[in-house]
Amino acid sequence: MDRADLLNKNAGIIRGISTSIKSLAPNSTIIVVTNPLDVMAYLVMKITGFGKSRVMGMAGMLDTARFKSFIAEELDCSPKDIDAVVLGSHGNHMVPVIDKTTVKGKPITEFLSDSELSVIIEKTINAGAEIVKYLKKGSAYFAPASAIAKMVMAIANDSREEMPVSAYLEGEYGINDVFIGVPAVISSRGVEKVEIFELDHDTMEKLKAAAEEVRSNISLLSL
Ligand code: 2OP
Repeated sequence: MDRADLLNKNAGIIRGISTSIKSLAPNSTIIVVTNPLDVMAYLVMKITGFGKSRVMGMAGMLDTARFKSFIAEELDCSPKDIDAVVLGSHGNHMVPVIDKTTVKGKPITEFLSDSELSVIIEKTINAGAEIVKYLKKGSAYFAPASAIAKMVMAIANDSREEMPVSAYLEGEYGINDVFIGVPAVISSRGVEKVEIFELDHDTMEKLKAAAEEVRSNISLLSL
């Protein structure tokens, strides 16, 4: 199953879990990890009725970690030398912000050509499916667990760290009424604030296309 195939099957499971969370843990903050990620986050918010700050999806931290790791592998350096952020949907419309991708502070474009970067972006988009292919009946868990832990710690410690998360947008980036990966400040209140990056035209268009992909999948849910 790819992420979209999971939509109907997982929507049923998520409905049940969200209803239980609503009655058993009405003051909780929810980090959604179920695919298709951005669509399931929307479903959780609708069913729980929680405010938008208390529901977020984990994808950007994972996709960014994979993107950094593939760049580091290509350049034979440490992922810690790479600064990057991947926005958009957790699917075919991931949006790495190339302007913000640096190696020891220098623009990535000094190290990799457009075509080399395209290969890395494709690998990042397909990384989840690649692991599912190897495991057959399972999917990635080490990197997702590490990403989730960072988000939980930011909430528990009220750290106000900026991280890419799937958040509900109401006009930010000109996008409305969908969950999509954006940079956000995470605090004990959940998504404290969506950060607005200056995105070039191409990146902005990709982010909007990602939002439309999520919106069309949301329309398949009976809400
Ligand atoms: C992942 O990216 C399958 O979405 C899951 O590992």
